[in-house]
Amino acid sequence: MMHARAHVFTLRLALRLGFRLGLGLGLGLTGCVVDLAPPAPLERPTLEQFKTVSPLMEQRCGSLDCHGSLARPFRVYGVRGLRFVDILNPDQALELVDPELVRANGSYPGTGGKPTSEAEYTQNWRSACALEPEKLTQVTRGELDPDALLLLKKPLGVEGHKGAAVFIKGSSDYVCITSWLDGEVSESECALALKNP
Ligand code: HEM
Repeated sequence: MMHARAHVFTLRLALRLGFRLGLGLGLGLTGCVVDLAPPAPLERPTLEQFKTVSPLMEQRCGSLDCHGSLARPFRVYGVRGLRFVDILNPDQALELVDPELVRANGSYPGTGGKPTSEAEYTQNWRSACALEPEKLTQVTRGELDPDALLLLKKPLGVEGHKGAAVFIKGSSDYVCITSWLDGEVSESECALALKNP
């Protein structure tokens, strides 16, 4: 009798364990099915045209207490604020340990030394494009209004912004940035915007 009971108990235990194992395995397999489809290609407006917009972003957004800071996702480098140190470039990397070299190279943050470099334009472009890459792709394809981007919602004050409203819709600042987003940067509007204090 005892033997039969022990047998039934073991059988039950085995069944329960088997069931749980099966369930776990099943869930695990369905859960970690890898989607092998390549990620949707991202599109963005050009770096070349962005070089006309960057001076405006440096002037309007790039001060050290605003976006001239490593703490900001939207990070702006340039002659007026934060300087980009290319640590892969041995000459520049030395600036990290030699303040005199920083002064000599004119790359002391916030002091308006050497002009904004090609590397800094590239960093600013990457930062502006990396905020919302999927949405930016839609904007670049003309499928979404540029005003849907944080890059505009924040400085327009549409979305809460510690920097408050920096420009209004239709202003030369706004047209400078949106013309770049639309693929044909307006050099005249960007130049006009830069003249505004
Ligand atoms: C046209 C110029 C500007 C643009 C395009 C802009 C854009 C943005 C964007 C996209 C964000 C969200 C991503 C992030 O946190 O970095 C943001 C946040 C922020 N911005 Fe600006 N900004 C501008 C000017 C300024 C200025 C002048 C200040 C400082 C007075 C400022 C201060 C901040 C701060 C503190 C945040 C983080 C907190 C928040 O989301 O409000 N911004 N801005």
